[in-house]
Amino acid sequence: MDIINIPATVPVFIKVIENSKEINLKEYILNYEKKYPKRLNTNVKAWRSDWQIHKNDQIFKNVADLISTVCGDISEIHYNLRLNFDTTHLWAMHYREGEEAIWHDHWPSDFSGTYYIDVEEDSSPIVFEGGIEVKPENGMIIIFPSTLKHKVPPTKKERIAIGFNLDKEAIPPDLPDEIAAIINEIPQMLLANQLKN
Ligand SMILES: [Fe+2]
Repeated sequence: MDIINIPATVPVFIKVIENSKEINLKEYILNYEKKYPKRLNTNVKAWRSDWQIHKNDQIFKNVADLISTVCGDISEIHYNLRLNFDTTHLWAMHYREGEEAIWHDHWPSDFSGTYYIDVEEDSSPIVFEGGIEVKPENGMIIIFPSTLKHKVPPTKKERIAIGFNLDKEAIPPDLPDEIAAIINEIPQMLLANQLKN
């Protein structure tokens, strides 16, 4: 079966936040890299941590929570629907001079992006299919639909950043009122039954 792909524009969202004063994320990532120096063979041709560093590290979990809140805001502001997002993957990256990321996408996630922790004037931009380039700055969070292909050309200056993927949490089905009322009563019915026994 042939499938035709009609190129169309998709949104790329940017939010700039002040880097935390309590925790120096640049130092934290550099120390993390020293602890876990193994280089993985992925689309990112630079040091990149494991996929889920937020699962057992409170500092990275806080970052995952921040990203998930920003995605909730995007959903509410741009799509008129507040949703919860689960940060399924979160990883740290450290590009040194000459290092790059080749063309790739983050399918099948919903939203993906990068949080730039420490970049310089000559650090490479992120380049999206269609030719749009975004120059990173410290504290910038860039979020885009995970199907959007992107790359990072070889960088002249270091780039320390956090990448992430998110999925939206399932929305409860829109049930008729009388069915929803019965479902709402179930916990009380179970409790009453327990008390009886
Ligand atoms: Fe990517």
